[in-house]
Amino acid sequence: MARSVVVTGGGTGIGLEIARRFVEAGDSVVIVGRRRAVLEQAAEGLGGGVAPLVCDLADPEAVEAALAALPARIDVLVNNAGSRETGFGAGPHALLARWRGDFERNVLTAVLLTESVRDRLTPGGGRVITISSIAALRGAGSYGAAKASLHAWNHFLAAQLGPSGITANIVAPGTVAGTEFFGPRLDEAEVSRRAARTLLGRVGERGEVAAAVEFLASAGAGFITGEILHCNGGELLGR
Ligand SMILES: NC(=O)c1ccc[n+]([C@@H]2O[C@H](COP(=O)([O-])OP(=O)(O)OC[C@H]3O[C@@H](n4cnc5c(N)ncnc54)[C@H](OP(=O)(O)O)[C@@H]3O)[C@@H](O)[C@H]2O)c1
Repeated sequence: MARSVVVTGGGTGIGLEIARRFVEAGDSVVIVGRRRAVLEQAAEGLGGGVAPLVCDLADPEAVEAALAALPARIDVLVNNAGSRETGFGAGPHALLARWRGDFERNVLTAVLLTESVRDRLTPGGGRVITISSIAALRGAGSYGAAKASLHAWNHFLAAQLGPSGITANIVAPGTVAGTEFFGPRLDEAEVSRRAARTLLGRVGERGEVAAAVEFLASAGAGFITGEILHCNGGELLGR
């Protein structure tokens, strides 16, 4: 049976590849993001069965307003939306903006939506999959701290959803090229530097993260919950 899937940040990068996997499996997919044109272009490229939904997931009012457009039943919720902003400058105000912003962009985007649609998750098979980052373990200041708090929240969520037969897991990618995440910061030299930190000698591809999500969403992953699946080419072993 076709699943009802919601992929946040599904208009670009890793989220777009995740959405593609579900579309190819014949599922019905809603992609969520802030930019209408980006979402509509992505939906067109993915073909039938994809609905774009414009929503700033860090804004509780926008999330509440989006509820009417979200499916009444959700088999798979992928909390992929997130970003790391740079260029805040120095001083306590800049620090506050950076830390608060990273928490809002990477934690509240997942928490607000998941809590808002919790009653729509399919009992006995529903899946919540959240994208964190290798930064949660390596450091990376406010962004890493925000991603790390997703790990703590996921464990709590898995315990709450477990009795209903719904799993909650994290996929934590290392560097993945071909997304909007780094902007111009990921030039050739930076890719080489990051590739050298992995055991495989290369950075990741979007489809490789999507494959991990696809597995955790599958029926075969039904006894896995509260876990963090690292997808980073062995980079952490080099710490
Ligand atoms: N690329 C990497 O190396 C890497 C490594 C580890 C983890 N990650 C994580 O992987 C996830 C996907 O990132 P990506 O690399 O694919 O970058 P990306 O291309 O920038 O994708 C991020 C997506 O999230 C959406 N988004 C951001 N803030 C949002 C908000 N407040 N409300 C709704 N949608 C929002 C963006 O769309 P709009 O701008 O239109 O809203 C965009 O489609 C992120 O959580 C990122 O932290 C990436």
